[in-house]
This record gives sequence, C-alpha cells and structure tokens, in this order.
Amino acid sequence: MGLISNNIRYIIWVVIFAAFSLSSFARGSNDYSIESLNAFIHDQADKALVKPRTGTLYNISLPANFSGMEVSVVRIRSGKFWDKGANFSFFHIPPGIRPIPSAKRLSILYQNLGNWSSYYYNVPGYRLVAPVVGLTAYDSSNSSTIGNRRVDFSIMGDPISVHFFNIVIQDHVTPKCVEFGADGSFELQDMNETYVCITHGEGHFSVVVLKKQGEGNMKLWALGFGFVGLVSVVLVMVAIVRLLRRKKMRKMEKQSERGVAFDTFWIGGSKMPSASMVRTQPALENRYVP
Ligand SMILES: *[C@@H]1O[C@H](CO)[C@@H](O)[C@H](O)[C@H]1NC(C)=O
Ligand SMILES: *[C@@H]1O[C@H](CO)[C@@H](O)[C@H](O)[C@H]1NC(C)=O
Ligand SMILES: *[C@@H]1O[C@H](CO)[C@@H](O)[C@H](O)[C@H]1NC(C)=O
Ligand SMILES: *[C@@H]1O[C@H](CO)[C@@H](O)[C@H](O)[C@H]1NC(C)=O
Ligand SMILES: *[C@@H]1O[C@H](CO)[C@@H](O)[C@H](O)[C@H]1NC(C)=O
Ligand SMILES: *[C@@H]1O[C@H](CO)[C@@H](O)[C@H](O)[C@H]1NC(C)=O
Repeated sequence: MGLISNNIRYIIWVVIFAAFSLSSFARGSNDYSIESLNAFIHDQADKALVKPRTGTLYNISLPANFSGMEVSVVRIRSGKFWDKGANFSFFHIPPGIRPIPSAKRLSILYQNLGNWSSYYYNVPGYRLVAPVVGLTAYDSSNSSTIGNRRVDFSIMGDPISVHFFNIVIQDHVTPKCVEFGADGSFELQDMNETYVCITHGEGHFSVVVLKKQGEGNMKLWALGFGFVGLVSVVLVMVAIVRLLRRKKMRKMEKQSERGVAFDTFWIGGSKMPSASMVRTQPALENRYVP
C-alpha cells in the first residue's frame, strides 16, 4: 500500500510541476515589468555618467543579460533646448519645447529595446515591426548626472517626431504608429509620413501591423501540444502505477494464500490434515482406482 500512495503522490507532484512550467511558459518565464525595467535603466544611466559634458550623447552600457537593448543620455540646458531642440537617436525634438515643471537643466534618456521589445510591449491583434524606443526627461538642475525628478514637455511649436528605419514589411499591410504608456497601455495612430510617428510628449513608441489570421495562434498551438504532452505523461504514469499495483496485489495474494496455508498448517498443528490438504485430497478418488 505504501508503494502505491507514494506513486500517486509522485504523480501529483509531476502534474503540479508540469502545469506550473506550462503556465510560466505561457506567461514567458520572466516577469517582464515595464516599471522595473525603466527604473533599472534610469539607475544604470545615473551611475554610469561621470562628469558628463553638456550636449554630448552618452551610450550607457547595461549588464550582459540585457544585451540587445541600447540606452543613451544627453544633458542639456533648457535655454539651448528651447532654442535648438535636440536631434538624437530615433527622436527629432524641434525647438520651442520647455520642461514642466521648469528646470534649468535636463537630461533626456533614450531607450531602444531592440529584440527585447515584444517581451515588454504588445498590442493585441498586432505585430511589432520596429523596436520599441523610449524617450524620458529628467530635471538635472541639482544633479551632476541625471537626477530623479521626471519632467514633461510643454510644446509650443512643432511636435516631436519619431523616425523609424530599417523596417521590413511584407504584403500590403498598412503600418501604424503605437504609443505606449508607462503601464503598458497603448494608443494607435496613423503614420505622419513613411515610418515617422508624431508625439506631443514622452513615452515609448513603435510601429505595428495587423496580425494575419492565425498568426496569433502559434502560442495557443504550442500550449495545446504542451497540454496533450502533459496528459500523455499522466496517462503513461497512471498505467505504470496500475501495472505496479496489479503486480503487487498478485504478489500479496500469493503471499496471503501461502500465509493461509501455512497458518492452517501450523494452527492445525497436530490436527492434520489442514483444510487445504482436505481440499487437495479428493475424497471419492479412491473409488475409481481400479
Ligand atoms: C552608441 O551606440 C550606437 C548604437 O549602438 C552607435 O551607433 C554609436 O556609435 C555609439 N556612440 C558612441 C559614442 O559610442
Ligand atoms: C539580468 O539579471 C538580473 C539579476 O542578475 C535581473 O534582475 C534582470 O532582470 C536580468 N535581466 C533581464 C532582461 O531579465
Ligand atoms: C538579443 O540579442 C542579443 C545579441 O544581439 C542576445 O544576446 C540576446 O539574448 C537577445 N535577447 C533576446 C531576448 O532574444
Ligand atoms: C537630425 O539628425 C539626422 C541624422 O542624425 C539628420 O539626418 C537630420 O537632418 C537631423 N534633423 C535636423 C532637423 O537637424
Ligand atoms: C533643486 O534645489 C532647489 C534649491 O535647493 C530646490 O528648490 C529644487 O526643488 C531642487 N530640485 C530638484 C529637482 O531636486
Ligand atoms: C507630419 O507632421 C508634421 C508636424 O506635425 C507636419 O508639419 C507634416 O505636414 C506632417 N506630414 C504629413 C505627411 O502628414
């Protein structure tokens, strides 16, 4: 009996483990939190800048397991920013923009999530065809690096444009601009010109196209196969346990039969022949012996 319940317990653990791995596969094995990524990138950039020169774009190196993401920072005086704007990374920031609340000096942090984009940002029914790129600004007035206080932009003239390039789109689908909020929410917009998106503020941006019918079902298929696999494993294990149980039962039956025979023998003691001996001794046999 101990063997059987151990096996059942084992199976339950296997099922729980398999279901857990399956569900984490469905979610993606990591918790891709936009909020914590942004905080992490800000801290890395803040630490990496040492006596930065105003108006110079600095590439920030990230830990090796973030390979594929690109982060850069520029510090800029608000007066110069208002007069000249800033033209770095994917973003063209025209003149006529000031930070809110006002700040003497700001830092602009650029992100390009590269091949990590779809781990953090998604639009249901659509497919990303460009990396997600981000723009955030900080008040650096009191800081020798970036500072912690976020600022917004107040745009008096032309809006900010985001210029995507190296986009390859098959078929005749119309790409759309997407703007993501800090909570992963999104807003779709038509493109201003080819692969150019327009924004009136900071945020994360990319380009999407409608998913083809069935394209989104790949994961569902994978999940389905995973589930079938899980069920098969369970069935095989149940079969094995049944087999083991039957074997054990048979063994126990045999043992108990033998046990009964011995018992009768020993209990019978001098009262032989015991019941089983009687059974194996046909009483009427002798009559037919010639
Ligand atoms: C910063 O990174 C970009 C993209 O990898 C690269 O093209 C550029 O040359 C780098 N700039 C500096 C100053 O290292
Ligand atoms: C890289 O590793 C650190 C801990 O070592 C972890 O916090 C971080 O999430 C990892 N990066 C990614 C992109 O998962
Ligand atoms: C992105 O590409 C880099 C190499 O360029 C690779 O090391 C990294 O693992 C990739 N990240 C993902 C999420 O595929
Ligand atoms: C912005 O920079 C890009 C290349 O870095 C250049 O092609 C473009 O003309 C610049 N735009 C403005 C308005 O300065
Ligand atoms: C910078 O310092 C001034 C004066 O101490 C203070 O009023 C202001 O709030 C500080 N700004 C930030 C972003 O810490
Ligand atoms: C793109 O946006 C800019 C700025 O809003 C505007 O001046 C320009 O006319 C737009 N181009 C197109 C093709 O809509």
